[in-house]
Amino acid sequence: MAANKRILLASRPPGAVTPDNFRVEETAITKPGEGEVLVRNEWLSLDPYMRGRMSDAKSYVPPVELGAVMTGQTVGEVVESRHPGFRAGDRVLTSLGWQQYGVAKGKELRLVDVSRVPASYYLGILGMPGMTAWFGLFDIGKPKAGETLVVSAASGAVGSVVGQLAKDEGLRVVGIAGGREKCDYVVRELGFDACVDYRAGRLNDDLREACPKGIDIDFENVGGEVLDTVLRRMNLFSRVILCGLIAEYSAAQPYAYKSLRSILVNRIRMQGMIVFDWKDRYEEALADLGARLAAGKLRYKESVVEGLENAPQGLIALLAGRNFGKQLVKL
Ligand SMILES: NC(=O)c1ccc[n+]([C@@H]2O[C@H](COP(=O)([O-])OP(=O)(O)OC[C@H]3O[C@@H](n4cnc5c(N)ncnc54)[C@H](OP(=O)(O)O)[C@@H]3O)[C@@H](O)[C@H]2O)c1
Repeated sequence: MAANKRILLASRPPGAVTPDNFRVEETAITKPGEGEVLVRNEWLSLDPYMRGRMSDAKSYVPPVELGAVMTGQTVGEVVESRHPGFRAGDRVLTSLGWQQYGVAKGKELRLVDVSRVPASYYLGILGMPGMTAWFGLFDIGKPKAGETLVVSAASGAVGSVVGQLAKDEGLRVVGIAGGREKCDYVVRELGFDACVDYRAGRLNDDLREACPKGIDIDFENVGGEVLDTVLRRMNLFSRVILCGLIAEYSAAQPYAYKSLRSILVNRIRMQGMIVFDWKDRYEEALADLGARLAAGKLRYKESVVEGLENAPQGLIALLAGRNFGKQLVKL
């Protein structure tokens, strides 16, 4: 059998991630033990949280150890099973990280149905990013028809789902994205009411124009200047779902927020979210997202890097905003 290629964390980046933070290694493929399954990974998900795992700063989960396989969710095919619940040829979702093959225990695997959607969707719209959008919007945002929602990183894995769900619920939906091409996609393909290009340098004015009745819900994926500007336009008793701060993940200094007063005077409710807190309810979101997808109500875009050895470049591109849609590696 072929050797297993894998990518290890070689060093911790002080700022932006660079290729030399990683090391490629070839090892023998491990045999599955009793109750275990050998999987050949077909897709690796690249996600912004990986920047946090490369750092040893305290967070909601421990960092990847130096010399360990980089963490990541994968979808793949069962090659050999010593678990009664899985057979060779099954497609499974698991977290085997940045490697071609891996062994997982039965409880670490979930069978996925690839008869109606591509396997890669379970890493995106029907996976962790889709769950994040669904629970953040409905459980924290509590959207009501007629309200105005703003979502940043609007063309991305989480943002694109948030906006389409909110539109389907009857809200006015305004995206924030980097560049004309992404903004055009968000309006023309995803059906948002408007999209503001934050790189154009007129974010406050453009948001005022796009949100004539102010903002009732901010689904925040970016932070920094984007969040600071959005806060200035929020309504009385509005909500902020603090999902991500990608603008700050590689920054040398935390951003110095100037608009916190708006939270006080407008009685804004701001809640941080980590999607794992909803893990017992994933099936609920999956059923609803799957139904909306089947009904043609959700559009979805992927940004694919070919080959495991290009995963570092894929992550670097994602963290610099050069992805367009859910970032994946085809193994
Ligand atoms: N809390 C949770 O449980 C949870 C779960 C999943 C994701 N998240 C967070 O949700 C956010 C979106 O994640 P995603 O997986 O959907 O990624 P994504 O949106 O597909 O990709 C990241 C996007 O962030 C945007 N961005 C804005 N400012 C940026 C900056 N200064 N540097 C780099 N990129 C910037 C870029 O889009 P533009 O070019 O449009 O700016 C980029 O395409 C991230 O903050 C992530 O950490 C949180």
